[in-house]
Amino acid sequence: MKIHFCCTDFKAEPWIAALRAALPQAEIEVWTPGAPPGDYAVVWAPPQAFLDEQPQLKAVFNLGAGVDALTQLKLPLDARLVRLDDAGMSVQMAEYVVHALIRHFREFDGYEADVAQGKWSFRKPRLREDFPVGIMGLGVLGQRVARAVQAFEFPVVGWSRSPKQVPGVRCYAGAGQWPDFLAETRVLVCLLPLTDETRGILNRDSLSRLRPGAYLINVARGAHLVEEDLIPLLDAGQLAGATLDVFRQEPLPAGHPFWRHPKITITPHTAARTLRDESVAQIAAKIARLERGESIAGIVDPSKGY
Ligand SMILES: NC(=O)c1ccc[n+]([C@@H]2O[C@H](COP(=O)([O-])OP(=O)(O)OC[C@H]3O[C@@H](n4cnc5c(N)ncnc54)[C@H](OP(=O)(O)O)[C@@H]3O)[C@@H](O)[C@H]2O)c1
Repeated sequence: MKIHFCCTDFKAEPWIAALRAALPQAEIEVWTPGAPPGDYAVVWAPPQAFLDEQPQLKAVFNLGAGVDALTQLKLPLDARLVRLDDAGMSVQMAEYVVHALIRHFREFDGYEADVAQGKWSFRKPRLREDFPVGIMGLGVLGQRVARAVQAFEFPVVGWSRSPKQVPGVRCYAGAGQWPDFLAETRVLVCLLPLTDETRGILNRDSLSRLRPGAYLINVARGAHLVEEDLIPLLDAGQLAGATLDVFRQEPLPAGHPFWRHPKITITPHTAARTLRDESVAQIAAKIARLERGESIAGIVDPSKGY
């Protein structure tokens, strides 16, 4: 069995070593143009030329949960596109979102600013009932985040494409229930995949429908947010603040207004990192199942784009 590794932005050697250790029977190489045909590919942002040269691939394993970059490319006809599901990402995402939520709710940003000025000051406690958390996307990551947020006793609402039942979460689904979901939400967490339907979904109209003084946490993809709509809503007080991990252009360009806005906290697309050991174990297990003719989880549905 031959496996090609074709990952932009990843240091290849440790990945190749880990994949070889997990799949000793396979030949695993970094792809170079003109390489012989492979059975499987492990990819991150591969060039179209790679996919064009490898029409016989049985499956393409993406080293991430989001496959939006890959769905823009033309895949080999018979290749299944497989995403990482969880692989150690969901607990990181839960940490990130709970941190941003509690930092805002408990006003730790305000306390930090006070302490920096030598001020010993108290803020009035706020009620968590007044901070319902709305999670857009109740998939692998969204449901894990919902559990973490519930542990701190915040009310949780969720929104997905198809109707869902998630314990302790008031679930809304589809375009018809989108306005009701927004009207109930004070802290909005975006964990949707980026598709034609969800691009630009965080915009002046949707964000204005949230409870007054709402807070945005975008940990999905930068293109979910219409960036130029955010600052006017913050400046008008409609939104209290935002924590953003993802941006339309990454790295965020120097001089972009998000770098310095006092109500915006940014991080460099680091909410949930791809972990090598977990990812390699998952990919190796899935290849073994496919070789035995068994089904696997995490196959992307091309008609939905995620
Ligand atoms: N910042 C980071 O470090 C980082 C790391 C990993 C992932 N991510 C992002 O997180 C995203 C979510 O990952 P995941 O593993 O949770 O994905 P997932 O398991 O595929 O779940 C996606 C959820 O979004 C819902 N959804 C999709 N299209 C929708 C639409 N048009 N309207 C309403 N709901 C819709 C789905 O509804 P159904 O349940 O009805 O299908 C599902 O509940 C990834 O796509 C990626 O972009 C970011």
